[in-house]
Amino acid sequence: MHAADLIDAETYHRDIVPGLLAGERGLLAATGLAGLRPLTLVVDDAAWTYRAQDGRLRVEPRGTAPDADADGSVCSLSPHAWTDFVTQLRTAAALAIAGDVRVEGGSVLDLFAWEPALRALYQGVPVFLPTGAALTDRHGRAVDLERAWTLDDTDADLADFFDATGVMRVRGVFSADEVAALDAEVDRLAAEARVGDDRSWWAQDESGADVLCRLVYASERSRMIGDLARDPRLLRLSSLLHDDLAPSTDRMEGIGVLLKPSGRLKGLANIPWHTDCGLGGHHITCPSVAIGIQLTGSSPETGCLEAVAGTHGRTCPPPDKGDLGDLPYMLVPTDPGDVTVHIADVLHASPAPTGAGGRRTMYVTYHPPALFEHVGPGLAVNDLIRSRSAEQLEAGLGR
Ligand SMILES: [Fe+2]
Repeated sequence: MHAADLIDAETYHRDIVPGLLAGERGLLAATGLAGLRPLTLVVDDAAWTYRAQDGRLRVEPRGTAPDADADGSVCSLSPHAWTDFVTQLRTAAALAIAGDVRVEGGSVLDLFAWEPALRALYQGVPVFLPTGAALTDRHGRAVDLERAWTLDDTDADLADFFDATGVMRVRGVFSADEVAALDAEVDRLAAEARVGDDRSWWAQDESGADVLCRLVYASERSRMIGDLARDPRLLRLSSLLHDDLAPSTDRMEGIGVLLKPSGRLKGLANIPWHTDCGLGGHHITCPSVAIGIQLTGSSPETGCLEAVAGTHGRTCPPPDKGDLGDLPYMLVPTDPGDVTVHIADVLHASPAPTGAGGRRTMYVTYHPPALFEHVGPGLAVNDLIRSRSAEQLEAGLGR
């Protein structure tokens, strides 16, 4: 992205925002305003205060409201950072990690809390809140969240469920012999993995020892694993909703293997509630479909997948335990040979094992055309996001 692509914050707020507020996006944003105190965004010398009033979002130049506390939390962004935020190339989390948000009042957490409403306004992404409402599919039928599917089910039934939930479990896709062969390949690659080899992720256990928690680009080092990208069973499941997705064996970490050790670990072995576009690039990454081939099976004891069904294409604030009863929460235990299928932006988690650990899941991911346009071989969307930090832009990178 070049300097010419900057979105001028003054023009945007003067010419674009009033129309958005008056239309559908204003209504979408209004659903995410409960409990938010005002937020002032400062870009260069100009500033705008966002606040809830009479159940609607109002956006006005700073200082318009007479109340002395009207500014609320004040967050300052550079023109580059503002452009990335309004396009959601970078989320609030990515800006905060890069040190590209200067907080002058309140906390950066206020910007995080505002993000669902701002995404609704800027990008038209609806807000998903815990309301206790039952999930229904596109035909208005109640969805059974416990349902496990098989390849004998019809594409239409699979697609209806997946469209409603964004996450599903399909039983018995791989035979015991296939699972054993893939597991042996994982054993071989795990034995070759070394800290710093750029092909593996490591966590640290309580004694500080390195523990292997992920193999990436396994598709480059194993013909058998690489061939999975074109497996007809996975191609069928990946294309239920979108037929233009393609596998990435040479970028986005190729085919990866999650290994979940037991015990308390530091690092990226377990990942709390997130979306796979949580740092940004939603328009590039989504609606990617990740298929998790269960080599060991999974359960809470080994840290199985959890998700909030129906949150794909929406913004759902990370729930706390008290919210789960009011959300379409899915725990997705599996047997060896099953697969899980999830859309990148469904809210999901890979929690710490409550017991022995040891879960092994191989992920084959299918991406939309935009990803291949923006992310080259050997790279991932998060490399693009990191290259947008103020430091990198100053150094002439990331343009
Ligand atoms: Fe994820």
